[in-house]
Order: sequence, then structure tokens, then C-alpha cells
Amino acid sequence: MSRLIHNSKFFVSRLSNIAASRNGRFLSTESDKTTDGKDSNKVEEPFKVEEAETVDVPPPPTEKLLVLGGNGFVGSHVCKEALDRGLAVASLSRSGRSSIQEPWANRMTWHQGNLLSTDSWKDALKGVTSVISCVGGFGSNSYMYKINGTANIDAIRAASEEGVKRFVYISAADYGVVNYLLRGYYEGKRAAETELLTRYTYGGVILRPGFIYGTRRVGSMKLPLGVIGSPLEMVLQHAKPLSKVPLVGPLFAPPVNVTAVAKVAVRAATDPVFPPGIIDVHGIIRYSQQKSL
Ligand SMILES: NC(=O)c1ccc[n+]([C@@H]2O[C@H](COP(=O)([O-])OP(=O)(O)OC[C@H]3O[C@@H](n4cnc5c(N)ncnc54)[C@H](OP(=O)(O)O)[C@@H]3O)[C@@H](O)[C@H]2O)c1
Repeated sequence: MSRLIHNSKFFVSRLSNIAASRNGRFLSTESDKTTDGKDSNKVEEPFKVEEAETVDVPPPPTEKLLVLGGNGFVGSHVCKEALDRGLAVASLSRSGRSSIQEPWANRMTWHQGNLLSTDSWKDALKGVTSVISCVGGFGSNSYMYKINGTANIDAIRAASEEGVKRFVYISAADYGVVNYLLRGYYEGKRAAETELLTRYTYGGVILRPGFIYGTRRVGSMKLPLGVIGSPLEMVLQHAKPLSKVPLVGPLFAPPVNVTAVAKVAVRAATDPVFPPGIIDVHGIIRYSQQKSL
């Protein structure tokens, strides 16, 4: 049995935010003050789901998960976590099968397709009960908007039309001034978030990690990013007030382990009472520390 504690303000706030986004406003953190001095573009506090508490239960065996970008850094950890939890798991990416030579990769179904051309991959959605999108990337502003925004918006629409029940999107934490330098990245992320909250009012979950650490493969090399990330996480997860400092505050968001992100993403995709909405870095750390049954 799952237990869920939430308050009704959450849903009211959520609906008003969706309505706002339909009027052409994104859930951006850039300031847009109203006459009463409030920041009208900011996601209000009740929108976040970190107050909710659920008990982690194993997913039913009929669940079929599609991981978009399952051959990437975060995506491969998500696939591994989902297989460990007994799910049938498939991945979709432009290059198809992962070059990873580990036993779990043989238990996967690997699809090849480009999210920007829905016809090339729509068949991969057949029978899928939930999707986790780990698709994103860097480059020019227009490229970043396309990969983080348009590609994911197309995926959210296709999944919703195919009747997929739950959709989890790996977005990114705000970094204050850095957001401006990476405009395409953050505008793309927020546009995809808006689409998800509109299409998946009850089954949409957005994770907003900051820096994700773990072992990242680059060709045949393995980069141990935890050497920097792990000690920083220990210090910064207890320094939440620092993240409220204007402009530079967001730089104090603690890094988070890739296995924690994967664990929370799979749970959000499979637990029918996992609350919809946005989970920030602190929420990801907290959820990942909850015990499984
Ligand atoms: N790593 C971090 O520290 C961090 C921090 C915060 C947020 N995030 C977010 O987390 C997500 C995953 O990040 P990551 O570090 O795992 O990235 P990654 O290793 O570069 O993985 C990106 C994945 O997306 C796939 N992909 C890219 N464009 C595609 C397209 N048009 N159609 C289908 N698949 C496509 C890539 O595979 P192909 O190239 O084969 O298509 C790859 O599997 C991203 O959204 C990123 O913004 C990451």
C-alpha cells in the first residue's frame, strides 16, 4: 500500500500554473514582477512535491518502460535500475543499441530513432505503460532548444496520444546567472516541462537535478565524476539556505548521484500514487533515501 500526504493547495496552484503556461508563459525563473511585487513566472512553492511522502513498493509485473536516451549517462543507469526492479525495459535513441558490454544490456530491447521525427520511432510506444526521457544536450542555443525542448515536446505528445499513463522528464535545476548563458538549454527544458504538466496532469513528474555525478563513459574510458561530486553533495545538501541567495545562490545546489536520480525516476514512472509535479535536488536526495519494501 502506498501512503500519500499532500494538500489541496498543490492542485489548485498546479492548475493555475498550467493555465498561465497556456497563455504563452513558461515556468521560467527569470524575473517577471507583477504590480504586487510577486514573481509571476516563478513556480510557486506548493507546486513542488517534496512534502509528499510515499512508501516505495515494487511495480506490478505488467509494467513496460520505455527510456528515451537509454544509452546515455543517466539513461543507462535508469535502464539498469528498472531491470533490477523487474520491469520490461526498452530504450530509444538515434544510435540504438548501447556499446556497453555488461549483462544488463542484453536484457534490454534497443530501438533506434530520432525523437524529432516521430514516425521513425512511434512503434516503440506500443504496449508501453510509462516513459522516462533522459534526452537532452548542449550546443548552440537553437540546437539546445531543439534537443531539450522540441524533441521532448514531440515525445510527450506522441506518448500521450498512444495512451502511455506516466511520463517522467529529467530536466535541470536553475543556475541563476548561468541560465542566461545557456538560454536555449533552459528555455527548452522549461518548454518541455510546460508541455508535460499540460498533457500529464496526473501522471507527469519532472526531476530537476543540478550536477549529476557517477561513472560516465566517454568512448572506452570511464570518468569517475563522484570524486568531485560525492564530497560536494555531503556538504551542500546541508546548506539549503545558501541556495536562496540572489543570483549566485543556485550555484550551491548540491550535486546528486546518478543512481539516486535513476531510482527516483523509476519510482515516479511506476508508482501510480507518486505525486505529479516538479521535484528539486533536495527532493531527489530525500526520495532516494526512502527505503524500498
Ligand atoms: N549529466 C548531468 O550532470 C545533468 C545534470 C542535470 C540535468 N541533466 C539532464 O539529464 C538528461 C540526461 O543527461 P546525460 O548526461 O545522461 O546526457 P547524455 O549522456 O548526453 O545522454 C543523452 C541521450 O539522449 C539521446 N538523444 C539525443 N538526442 C536525441 C534525439 N534527437 N532522439 C533520440 N535520442 C536522442 C542520446 O543518444 P544518441 O546520441 O544515440 O541519440 C543519449 O542517449 C539530459 O536531459 C540532461 O539535460 C544532466
